[in-house]
Amino acid sequence: MTVDEMRRQRDVASGKGGLTMTVDEMRRELQRRLKRNRFAHSIGVANTAVKLAKRFGVDADKAYIAGLLHDCAREFENDELPAQARLRGIEINDVERAMPLLLHAYVSAHMIREIYGVDDAEIAQAIYRHTVGAPDMTPLDKIIYFADMIEPNRNYPGVEDLRALAETADLDEIILTAFSETIAFVLQKNSLIHPSTVAARNFLLLSK
Ligand SMILES: [Fe+2]
Ligand SMILES: [Fe+2]
Repeated sequence: MTVDEMRRQRDVASGKGGLTMTVDEMRRELQRRLKRNRFAHSIGVANTAVKLAKRFGVDADKAYIAGLLHDCAREFENDELPAQARLRGIEINDVERAMPLLLHAYVSAHMIREIYGVDDAEIAQAIYRHTVGAPDMTPLDKIIYFADMIEPNRNYPGVEDLRALAETADLDEIILTAFSETIAFVLQKNSLIHPSTVAARNFLLLSK
């Protein structure tokens, strides 16, 4: 039997198409590659994403894996990310060139398959969109974006209000507030606003 056949058999046995590692194996690999606080953040996002997924009727296993691996490219330093993106054929716009940290989302979306054996378009898209958003996000995309902002290790003014929103508001209200807060924060810092975040927020307002 080839390795691929063995993997396929394991996938069928576990009922998880598109995965070649167990979640436990993914967690161990991530822990080996990330700094301690980044790994703790990843676990926090995974657990928060599961809670949101249950509340909003989204696949909790996908939410856990997407949350766990969303920052996996943070194993690279910021100045390594442009080369890592180019290596994978990812186009880099002016805002991303000025703020290469943003590229970690796109590189992570590729690395989940390369390193962690996750071949799942919904998980990849949620990871791809977790930093700057996009128009027409799926519930899973929105959950990962928001879980990243409110996981228990996050500590910034206003985070408690956002956490409260997670208990009461509907998903579009949550994500609209998240984009508005993000844009307000970026304006306050006199930083660049990524065009996808503006497009994502406009899309929500226009589709109301
Ligand atoms: Fe991130
Ligand atoms: Fe994150």
